Amino acid sequence: MKHDSANGAAVRQQFNIGICGMGTVGGGTFTLLQTKQAEITRRLGKTLKVTHVASRRQNPAFDTSSIRFSTDVFAVADDPAIDIVVEVMGGTEPALPLILRAIENGKHVVTANKALIAVHGNEIFAAAKRKGVTVAYESAVAGGIPIIKALREGLAANSIHWLAGIINGTGNFILTEMSLKGRSFPEVLQEAQALGYAEADPTFDVEGIDAAHKLTILAANAFGIALQFDKVYTEGISKLTIADVNYANELGYRIKHLGITRMTEKGIEMRVHPTLISTQRLIANVNGVMNAVVVKGDSVGSTLYYGAGAGAQATASSVVADLIDIVRSSGDGTAGNPGNVPSLAFNSLRNDIPILDIDDIECEYYLRIAAQDKIGVMAQISQVLMNHGINIEALIQKEPDHNATGEVVVPVVLLTGKVQERQMNKAISAIEALDQVVDKVTRIRVELFDGEGN
Ligand code: HSE
Repeated sequence: MKHDSANGAAVRQQFNIGICGMGTVGGGTFTLLQTKQAEITRRLGKTLKVTHVASRRQNPAFDTSSIRFSTDVFAVADDPAIDIVVEVMGGTEPALPLILRAIENGKHVVTANKALIAVHGNEIFAAAKRKGVTVAYESAVAGGIPIIKALREGLAANSIHWLAGIINGTGNFILTEMSLKGRSFPEVLQEAQALGYAEADPTFDVEGIDAAHKLTILAANAFGIALQFDKVYTEGISKLTIADVNYANELGYRIKHLGITRMTEKGIEMRVHPTLISTQRLIANVNGVMNAVVVKGDSVGSTLYYGAGAGAQATASSVVADLIDIVRSSGDGTAGNPGNVPSLAFNSLRNDIPILDIDDIECEYYLRIAAQDKIGVMAQISQVLMNHGINIEALIQKEPDHNATGEVVVPVVLLTGKVQERQMNKAISAIEALDQVVDKVTRIRVELFDGEGN
């Protein structure tokens, strides 16, 4: 640790970083800190130096020969020379005890671990507050997009009405390649893994769990509520078919996997699911590994944040920004003098706002109904929807086709007006009970962004 004793006061000139985990994000962070050291020093007026690295094995891709190396990550948390611990291992074990140990030892922490923050963040932030250290997590949500900073600081004057985002790069990469190039799901997933986009367990990406972790964090920062991952309604992309992607296109929509959180009069919506979005929207045209988040604030209106949502360099960009922020905002960078930005954007959190059950949300729907090719089927379907007070906004009946069991079916595709999910469930059950309807109804929610811009 170097000090400059000009004017008699000790001014820290170097801050020592310990990186735990040398996978995609750890390696990216290590490289970025090495290659950009001079520029970072110019921005900060102080130097960030990696002095300790821990991972299960040495990664020959990175020259750590002049740096302390440990196979035990707790050696970093216990290293008295380390000022800031970077946790980029993912998972809960040993990430949670490691972070708690680092906090206990008075060290600031930077983590990219969205699962850990979404599920254990309340405990972690409470521990950090007690010890007067910062736990920063910009890289946990939307990779390189500074969305946490935007919500916590840039939009601090706003009451947030809602936000909606493509917040899983792997899922968006798969959807894009499937819909634009007709590639198969397993093939594209394999490529996403090779590119370092996917989670260690890629079902987190394709079943929406990763997006639900990120949405939990966004909702907490948007509304000043505790992290409540267990209350997020989660649906993945694994059951989407090319047929639905194509029908949606015909109707003027793209299917994107969205995380949506909205403050309503009854409570807060938190949901992750495939969603039809008009092709006119910028967010409908966000492709590949890119992420985008639309935030509606009462003063600013609708704003859009776009950038790479996964990958070594993009994620490292956010990790290093957090490191710079910690040193800047905590004065001399040591514990007991943390920055003034609360972990979840608000100094006091509200615990009086319920999180709505998915049955309580209201939206428009896309329905695909496989019906027998018989006179009167359309009339019956329309009648059921009418009986449930559901308006049909658009309808296409496709030429007869064969379903999975070889039956000849007519796909009926329609868009409905706004209706409560509970009511839509009843209507779908009634449609499925019709003699001429042969398969389960496919239902995909539609997002109109309250008619707001972007
Ligand atoms: N697996 C994640 C994604 C990595 O694809 O978005 C970035 O959080």
